[in-house]
Amino acid sequence: MNYQEVEKFVKSKLNNNNNGHGLDHALRVVKNVKLILREVDCQKHICIISAYVHDLIDRKVTNDINHEIQELTSFLKSQIKLTNRECEHILTICSTISYSKNERLTSTEAMVVQDADRLDALGATGIARTIQYSTATHSPIYIEGDKSDDTAIGHFHAKLYKLPDLMNFQVSKQLAAEKIELMKLFETHIISENKHNEEHLH
Ligand code: ADP
Ligand code: NI
Repeated sequence: MNYQEVEKFVKSKLNNNNNGHGLDHALRVVKNVKLILREVDCQKHICIISAYVHDLIDRKVTNDINHEIQELTSFLKSQIKLTNRECEHILTICSTISYSKNERLTSTEAMVVQDADRLDALGATGIARTIQYSTATHSPIYIEGDKSDDTAIGHFHAKLYKLPDLMNFQVSKQLAAEKIELMKLFETHIISENKHNEEHLH
């Protein structure tokens, strides 16, 4: 399968995204899918195409989900020549893997794409994307004690630190644990840089 057409389509759709869900995110999720597929056996082309398109029908990327579902369906059927069944499978993956939806996954392919997407929420990239998102929503980087979605560091606690335990495969769990280490270190630096040193206050 030649994925160039898919990449072109996704690029045209994510061109203007400024909240951490741009083409660069989609390409890293594709890369993560390929890493996981070294250890997990399932339908590779379903995983890869889903990784490319997974955010196109998410409300963080579009205000008109129904319209995007139609456009994506018609692209997959007429341009990529997928069967109805393959197309349905991909749409199901896209609509079930989101953290906030907390839905039960129905295929190995969905589990692979979910882990790949979640890995891109962690590590150096995860830190950078959280700042991108916080900028887009005008949220502060850090408020002492905040562990909610209202601040970037709060989001680490509210969601990101929980991801390693939620991974579907051992290979992703291991990769996630390594990426969390950097984030914890980053957090300790942010905390100390935000501490007011009494000597400087007079
Ligand atoms: P999912 O696709 O699993 O629902 P999201 O699209 O909600 O995940 O989040 C993707 C990324 O966007 C997060 O990993 C994080 O970097 C950023 N993000 C989401 N919500 C917030 C928030 N409240 N504060 C900062 N960053 C956020
Ligand atoms: Ni995503």
